[in-house]
Amino acid sequence: MPAAQQATYPNQDELDSVVSDLGRLPPLVTSWEVDSLKEHIARAQRGEAFVLQGGDCAETFDECTSENIVAKLKILLQMSLVMLYGLKKPVVRVGRMAGQYAKPRSADIETRDGTSLPSFRGDLINRNPFTPDDRIPDPQMILRGYERAALTLNFVRSLIDGGFADLHHPEYWDLDWVGHSTMADEYHGIVRSISNSLDFLETVSGQQLHKTQRADIFAAHEGLHLLYEQSQTRYLDRRGLWYNLTTHFPWIGMRTAAMDGAHIEYFRGIANPMGVKIGPGMTRQWVQDLVGVLNPENEPGRLTLIHRFGANSIEENLPDLIKAVNDTGSPVLWVCDPMHGNTESTADGTKTRRFDNIVSELESAFRVHEEMGSHLGGVHLELTGENVTECTGGARGLTDGDLAREYKSTVDPRLNYEQAMEVAMRIAGLHQGNGKERRGG
Ligand code: PEP
Ligand code: CO
Repeated sequence: MPAAQQATYPNQDELDSVVSDLGRLPPLVTSWEVDSLKEHIARAQRGEAFVLQGGDCAETFDECTSENIVAKLKILLQMSLVMLYGLKKPVVRVGRMAGQYAKPRSADIETRDGTSLPSFRGDLINRNPFTPDDRIPDPQMILRGYERAALTLNFVRSLIDGGFADLHHPEYWDLDWVGHSTMADEYHGIVRSISNSLDFLETVSGQQLHKTQRADIFAAHEGLHLLYEQSQTRYLDRRGLWYNLTTHFPWIGMRTAAMDGAHIEYFRGIANPMGVKIGPGMTRQWVQDLVGVLNPENEPGRLTLIHRFGANSIEENLPDLIKAVNDTGSPVLWVCDPMHGNTESTADGTKTRRFDNIVSELESAFRVHEEMGSHLGGVHLELTGENVTECTGGARGLTDGDLAREYKSTVDPRLNYEQAMEVAMRIAGLHQGNGKERRGG
């Protein structure tokens, strides 16, 4: 079947040998973790939990450092704490991490000053500098990607096992500059309140709740590079099912969701919970076909639809698709990605996203689902725990002129720490901009 967005490797023998090496290496996740996430997603489908999915647009091998991983974990934990508090339901944390190394591109070839080279497709495939050596797809990078993903997961697991994510000690999750943030007071208030509630519950119940209420975190990435995904896909006799064991939650991007394409064919055969991005151009028939082929048994927790229309078109396009999916009778989790439909370029050509558009798409998503008798069960964000300047707006009112200061993404612009926290507060209904109106608490 036609496989969209795949790299062309010059040396087939080397590629084959890498794929077979990767097939022999141990898996990155286990089937019982994958099944457990599926149950969490099923709960979110029923409205009993909320899914927070977030991380870089593309991870890079260079940024696989302890600081970066800790910062990402902290921001996801802090956001989930705020959302747990405001929404009053468990938050399922899913990082765009430990494998988010391959990117779809609008063109296979990039031309600069008369020279044409393969486009940069992410660190799993080739390198960013514009030289033939860097841009020619290198099979060894598939193995390097697997190793980086393993290192990342290993560190995340150690931190969590060591109590880093313990709900009882959220004060450990503070990032250095939370003290300077305009939202610091609100955040500290929430932390105090949750700690007090836990203390109270533990005192009256005589049980150590924090031991059982451990904060798990799951891994997700776009299942784009089919050879990478396939080489770690195992048939488990015990279960009689195939699992993609590179990640808990792979998703299908907008550009690879064709019904007759190789990605759909691969995904329909695995047992993982999975996402599909849906956006402009998605028809009623197409979304119904996706639901039918990817979840023929109507299994709860299996399918998540991540819509990403843009602030200007969500209200017009989403209702028909909700109706189309409702008509199938199959359960899905609806998640809003308010990032990818709101990318724009500044006058000097810098890719950015406006905070107000991101929040506006999210608000529309909550409203449209409610009006349609459906509900929004999660959010999918591109964010970082660092203090970058890639999206404009937010509490500090970043402008186009600020972008150059700390612009690090080689692909899409991410929310920085404060902007991400502000989004979490908005979702939780705690912060309405300028700290003026608040509800909850
Ligand atoms: C992404 O999530 O980085 C991405 C490329 O999204 P989409 O497939 O929705 O455009
Ligand atoms: Co992106």
